[in-house]
Amino acid sequence: MQKTTVRAGSNIAFIKYWGVADAAINMPLNSSVSMTLADAHTTTTVEWQTVATRGATGPAEDEVNVNGAPLHGDAARRIVNHLDRIRDLAGVSLRARVSSRNNFPIASGIASSASGFSALTVAACAALDVELTPTRLSSLARLASGSASRSLFGGFVQWDKGTNDESSVARPLFPVEHWKLIDIVAVVSSEPKSVSSEGGHRLAATSPLCEGRVRNAEQALPPVVEAIGRRDLPSLGELIEQDALAMHAVMMTSTPRLIYWLPGSLNIMLAVQRWRDEDGLPAYFTIDAGPNVHVICEPASVDEVSHRLGELPAVEKLITSGPGPGPVELTEHLF
Ligand code: PMV
Repeated sequence: MQKTTVRAGSNIAFIKYWGVADAAINMPLNSSVSMTLADAHTTTTVEWQTVATRGATGPAEDEVNVNGAPLHGDAARRIVNHLDRIRDLAGVSLRARVSSRNNFPIASGIASSASGFSALTVAACAALDVELTPTRLSSLARLASGSASRSLFGGFVQWDKGTNDESSVARPLFPVEHWKLIDIVAVVSSEPKSVSSEGGHRLAATSPLCEGRVRNAEQALPPVVEAIGRRDLPSLGELIEQDALAMHAVMMTSTPRLIYWLPGSLNIMLAVQRWRDEDGLPAYFTIDAGPNVHVICEPASVDEVSHRLGELPAVEKLITSGPGPGPVELTEHLF
């Protein structure tokens, strides 16, 4: 047993995960494809301790600290639940000390659960000397957050929906060096979202549009993979915009409905389309379960796209990232 620190990147999905076939294990309704991000990551240190070393009278609880603040109650529950899975797997009853830090603001429209649970899964297992393959780690991370299953790999990644806990796992499609695609997140609000994606996945099937969107996502997935393979941004861009809009149509028509967009979100989407149509600027949008818009482009257009986004009144700030590696173990610890 040793203190272990792991850094994992978040990811942006090009074919989205929205809706669960089996909520208990986060088995999705459709397979999804994403790019792991280099510059939006979580670093997590885990140390397991026997209860006795913490004093026989002390509370036998896990200690969780995120971005410098201790987490208690419901906020810590999701993390403690995941530590329970890892304890069960290893057959131990140790307590964990966990400290985690994001290099991006939590409510920025970048999935902190994807990088967070990927880093936690890898660090917590390694600190216990539990040796699992990346595929098995992907399955384990999925139980905490579906999108975390994809952050187990670097570059471009596919999460196959699978038919059970073992087969619903991510796998690498293309390595980081394959294509330097850039994700510029235009942040229009840093308020935490009112409905978590965890709750949203359970509502998806209540939308009359869900079945059609899932069918469409499955059909769009092979051409998305081919477009990434050819480094063909116009083909990829059309497909990712359509899937993002279809996912939001499902969100907006579920019961209760989920409207994540703010007026600024729509302004950005319309601006990106206008810049493309009128000025030939090759940039495309996608949007997750929140109001912030991810604008995808190639390095040659980053300055121009960033400049134009920065001029829009709705945009508070920009966060820019290229493709990044899978989880890496670091020698420097957070405590
Ligand atoms: O992994 P979750 O439960 O945070 O869900 C992620 C959902 C989306 O970000 C909206 C889509 C996706 O595939 O990442």
